[in-house]
Formats: sequence, C-alpha cells, structure tokens
Amino acid sequence: MSDQDDPRPFPDPAQLPEVPPDTLGLDAEEMRRLGHKVVDMVVDRAMARGQEPAIRTGDAADLRDRLGGPLPEAPGDPDAALELMAEVALAHQQHGDHPRYFARVPGPAAFAAILGEWMGTGFNTICASWGGASGPATVELVALGWLSEMLGLPAGTEGVLLSGGSMGNLTGFAVARAEMGPGVAYLTDQTHASLPRNLRALGFAGDEIARLPADARWRMSAETLRAAISRDRAAGRRPMMVVATAGATNTGAVDPLPEIADICASEGLWLHVDGAYGAPAAITEEGRAALAGLDRADSLALDPHKWLFQPYDLGVCLVTRPGALERSFAIHPEYLRDVREGAGEVNFGDRSLELSRRSRALKLWMSLRTYGAARFRQAVRDGIACAETAEAMLRAAPETWEVVTPAQLGIVCFAGRGADAAAHEAAARALAESGYACVTTTSLGGRSVLRLCTINPLTTEDDLRGTLDRLAAALAAPPAG
Ligand SMILES: Cc1ncc(COP(=O)(O)O)c(C=O)c1O
Repeated sequence: MSDQDDPRPFPDPAQLPEVPPDTLGLDAEEMRRLGHKVVDMVVDRAMARGQEPAIRTGDAADLRDRLGGPLPEAPGDPDAALELMAEVALAHQQHGDHPRYFARVPGPAAFAAILGEWMGTGFNTICASWGGASGPATVELVALGWLSEMLGLPAGTEGVLLSGGSMGNLTGFAVARAEMGPGVAYLTDQTHASLPRNLRALGFAGDEIARLPADARWRMSAETLRAAISRDRAAGRRPMMVVATAGATNTGAVDPLPEIADICASEGLWLHVDGAYGAPAAITEEGRAALAGLDRADSLALDPHKWLFQPYDLGVCLVTRPGALERSFAIHPEYLRDVREGAGEVNFGDRSLELSRRSRALKLWMSLRTYGAARFRQAVRDGIACAETAEAMLRAAPETWEVVTPAQLGIVCFAGRGADAAAHEAAARALAESGYACVTTTSLGGRSVLRLCTINPLTTEDDLRGTLDRLAAALAAPPAG
C-alpha cells in the first residue's frame, strides 16, 4: 500500500519527533528553562513582598515608553521580555498580598492556588461542556460542593465559577429575573456600586431599582424595606427581589438577613445576597454567627479572590433552587447538539453567560486539597481578629483617633481627631507614596473616614501599629506649601 492509499490522516506515531514542537515554534527545552525562571521570579517576589511598596502607580507616558514601542515584527528575547514585565509592568500595581496593603479589598493569594491556576493555563483547559471537560467540570462540581458545605448552605445548592463579584451578582440577578419575572429590586445606599450597574445592564428600569437609605449602622432596615414594598404595591409596581449585603465594602456591615429572609418569604420575593466580600467569613464560627440567615438566600455571590486566598480572578454565584441556573442560561444550538447531558453531567457553559471559559475551579480545588479547610478557617479568623486588634489600638489613643464603625468582618473605619477629608486623603496618599502601606479613605453619610481591611493572615501587630503611627504623624504634620 502506498502512502497515498494509507487511510490514516496522521503520521505514524513512531515517526513523530520525540518532542512535539510548540504551536509557534518555541523549543521545549527553552519553554522548560523559561518556566523555571518564571517560578523563581514569582517565588522570589513573594518572599520579598514585605519589602516592596504596597502599591506603586506609574506615570502614563513613562510606562508607555518603557513597555510600548513599534509592533515587534521579528522574534525577540523572551528573557528580556519577562524581566521587563516584572520590573516595569508588574512592579506598578497594587500588591494585594502585601501584609500592609489594607486598601479597598486585599488579594492575599496562596501559593497552592497559584499552582492550580498555572496548571489550567498550561493544559489549556476549557470548561464549557461535559464532553469537552468532564474532568475539569467534575473538579468544579466538587469545589462548589466543598464551598457550599463550608458556608453551611442547604443540600442541593448549585453554582458556577465566574470572574468576580460583579459577574456573580449579575448572574444571580439574571436567574432571579428568569424565575420570578420582572419587578422591583430593593438595595440600599451601601450596596456596592456594581450592583445597580448590573441591574441597569439587565434592563431594570429606573423605578425597578429601589435604593433605600441604610440605618444608623449602615445596614438595610427591615422596617424601611417593608414600607417600600407596600408603597410599591400600592403604586401598582411589582416587588420582585431583595438584594441584601453580607459584608458591605465600606464598613463590613451585614444586613439583617433573618428578618429580610422572613420578609421575602411572606411577600414572595427572591432573596439575593451579595457576599462578594463578607460571605467567606461564614466558614468560621464567629463569621457564621454574624452571617446567620445566609443559608436562606435564593442566590448568593461571593469572591474567593477576596477572602479565600485565590489569585484573580475567581467569583462564585450559588443558587439554592436546583435547576434554576440551567433554566436561565442553557442553550441548545445545532452546533452543540453532540454535547452530552447525562445524569451528573454538567455543561458549565449552560450556567452563565460564559460559554468558552477557563477552569477557575482548579485553583480552589488544589488549595483546599493542599491546605485543608481548617487552615482556611484559621486564616479567615486571623483576618477578623486583626481588625479587632486595630480597633483596640485606635481606642487606646482617643486623643488621636475616633472609631467611626467598629471592626466588622475584617474592616474598621476611623477618623483623625479634627481631620477633614483633605487631611485624610493627604495622609493616605503620603503613606502610599512612602511605600510602607496602603490604606484608602471612604465616606459615610458624607463624613470622610480612613478604612482598614485586614484580611491578609500575614499582617502582624507591628504592621498595624506602624501603619497607624505613620498616619497619625502625617495628620499631625503641617500641610505642605
Ligand atoms: C460587596 C462587594 N460586592 C461586589 C463587588 C464587586 O466585585 P468584583 O470587583 O470582584 O467584580 C465588590 C468589590 O469589592 C464588593 O466589595
């Protein structure tokens, strides 16, 4: 039989070169060498993270000069590219894993989670259909099951991994809308700004987004909610969903979930909980108490890239009504007809707006297997305790500081005695520019405050003290100029 008659479309495996070539021609040994170099660069940087600036922001023109240039037409030096990437691009960012990065929400990613992320990228995993990803899909189902169990959610809870809180909340809202039909969603003025944006993107009209004033503790008031629902019914509108927050970005405050869940049950409304920041605290005993009622949510968003030590990005949408995710998102076009749908087989592309999607579960699975749930609980407990320690330090210096909101789920807000917004902002800026630490300001009811978010288990008492001392010194210094 001649070669031309050979029906096999592929070359004889014995004839294949020992090392298959890279798609675009990088040598395998070179890939191995560069890969080891990348691991060394990442570990070396992580080991030195306490010495680098907590945040560094570059000048736009300078960064463009150093990272840009004409389109590279010919091959270049990958070592030089990696070094430039580390020294210029990756040096100019917030280091959310720095022990003194207290701004917004830190991102203290753990080593084993980073390894899981790298494996998915290295194996070029796509977790869209069962047929194309039965292994990774099983990892996602297992990771979601472990997560639901750690959070104390009811059996039968289903979920999908997404890019973050914004997409987690958007997915929950889309499911609520598909299950319940159109109507009014209730939020507060402390709800994260991405949530009303999600609702607008989904087509909720202005009068279907009811932003209620928060109470004196920056939580949703059950009384205000009840009044708004009856006002809307009287005006002919159709209440549909309550959006509670479990761990507000500003203060860590938790809306009164049991009361809100009772209202939802009696009024026939969907309960969505935005736990993007705070829900991971429910894996600890003290957090579970603060988050009582979380298990009564119909849908819940949370972000393991915030407080479960995962690298960006990783958000989750969990839904306690079986089948609701697929009822909202499943698609059956002719070109996906050969996708399998047997018992226990999940096409994750049918659970959100993402069809092609990488396997974000690998990092969560890998880190739970490596560290164990008990280690996660301890690390979250440390973050809760750290804010309480900061609060105690602030209260011990009443001539310098006023505690504006107490430590709640790893966040404390405070003000310098006699300091206004400009003074707070200048002190926070000076601290960030010094490289020692990064804190941000926010505003509560029009009042400027400084805010610490302390969820990095590597933060020490010395880090807290050093940060507060430097802020106090900056506030005491006469304004420049
Ligand atoms: C309470 C809350 N909800 C939603 C979000 C949005 O999450 P992401 O930035 O992951 O999209 C955040 C972000 O900080 C948050 O704190």
